[in-house]
Amino acid sequence: MLNTADENRRRHDLHPDHPVWLFGYGSLIYKADFPYLARRPASITGWARRFWQGSHDHRGTPDKPGRVVTLIEAPGMVCAGMAYRITPDVFEHLDHREKNGYLRFRTPLTFADGDLADGLVYIATEDNAAFLGQADEQAIAEHIARSEGPSGSNRDYLLHLAKALRELGALDEHVFRIEQFLLAGND
Ligand code: BEZ
Repeated sequence: MLNTADENRRRHDLHPDHPVWLFGYGSLIYKADFPYLARRPASITGWARRFWQGSHDHRGTPDKPGRVVTLIEAPGMVCAGMAYRITPDVFEHLDHREKNGYLRFRTPLTFADGDLADGLVYIATEDNAAFLGQADEQAIAEHIARSEGPSGSNRDYLLHLAKALRELGALDEHVFRIEQFLLAGND
């Protein structure tokens, strides 16, 4: 399934007057191009952020997809990100923006201050047509270094994400190792 926007519209019965929490772990952390009611650092447990999803429409093209993050099940692991309180109409924009394989799932969230809530998160599961899967982190860095698409270079996506994670105080070895390989490749 290459365009997940229609499927996402059908997936959840959201009441237009009831705001929901959306957990962001990728570009949503640093690119909030949508209205929100509140924004709070948060994490989800049991998932790892991985550069395993192909990007045909943002950081690559259908012929030369870039690599962007998705979540992979990882029991016990904690994935830090940013949660946004949004009204359901905002999904019209987000479902279009993240239509390349991402589906919305319900998830428990833990805010940085320990509060708990239920929310939604976009995940590109391994059965989606744009999934690229696991690769050596150096190979991922090389792939990112040569990719670009309508939203800009794949390199900028990685560097923005790594910076945003550092600002959140989040340790993400996968992202930081790929960043190191990418920056070393420039010397
Ligand atoms: C995120 O930041 O959570 C995200 C970004 C792009 C697609 C799906 C999720």
